[in-house]
Amino acid sequence: MQFTVAIDGPAAAGKGTISRAVADRFGLAHLDTGALYRAVGVKAAATGSDPVAAALSLTPEDLARADLRTLEAGQAASKVAVIPEVRQALLDYQRDFARRAGGAVLDGRDIGTVICPEAEVKLFVTASAEVRAHRRWLEVGGDAAQVLAEVRARDERDMTRADAPLKPAANAVQIDTSTMSIEEAVAAACAEVAARL
Ligand code: C5P
Repeated sequence: MQFTVAIDGPAAAGKGTISRAVADRFGLAHLDTGALYRAVGVKAAATGSDPVAAALSLTPEDLARADLRTLEAGQAASKVAVIPEVRQALLDYQRDFARRAGGAVLDGRDIGTVICPEAEVKLFVTASAEVRAHRRWLEVGGDAAQVLAEVRARDERDMTRADAPLKPAANAVQIDTSTMSIEEAVAAACAEVAARL
């Protein structure tokens, strides 16, 4: 079965939780594409290497680093994500993953627009910047105002870059999770997938 679910949206909107739940529920493979950009950003910073070279030489060990979920890794990811050659270097891996037998869920920023424009299901998961910053702050702690500033900075960079900016695909279903519980958001996403299976 070739069945792809594309889940895009800004940082901390709930994409990761929803994607894992959808993959579990329907028995699909899951790829967190943000982890690829985080690994490239962290690797380039740690080794002082060119981000394009880091993207071309990405290994499973790079993807398993413990420090990929930090705020710094998120910022580093969004900085390397503006480089077209970095995006190009990660393209085939993502498309091959989407072609897996059995179907797949990919979450990121440009899955429905660039990576899998033919995806059977496209969801755009959003929430207000304040709600997203609060969720991220619960995960990472620290100064709440700084977490909000970082969420806004990342939104700005992701939405205004020239190559594959964050935006809903024309035929994406939008799910605003600002006032939803995790269970409600997962149920809304699963209902969309079930309707197209
Ligand atoms: O989803 P996550 O917050 O882990 O993504 C980290 C960063 O990687 C994003 O802010 C974005 O700049 C970049 N990214 C991207 N395209 C994707 C996934 C992530 O540009 N498909």
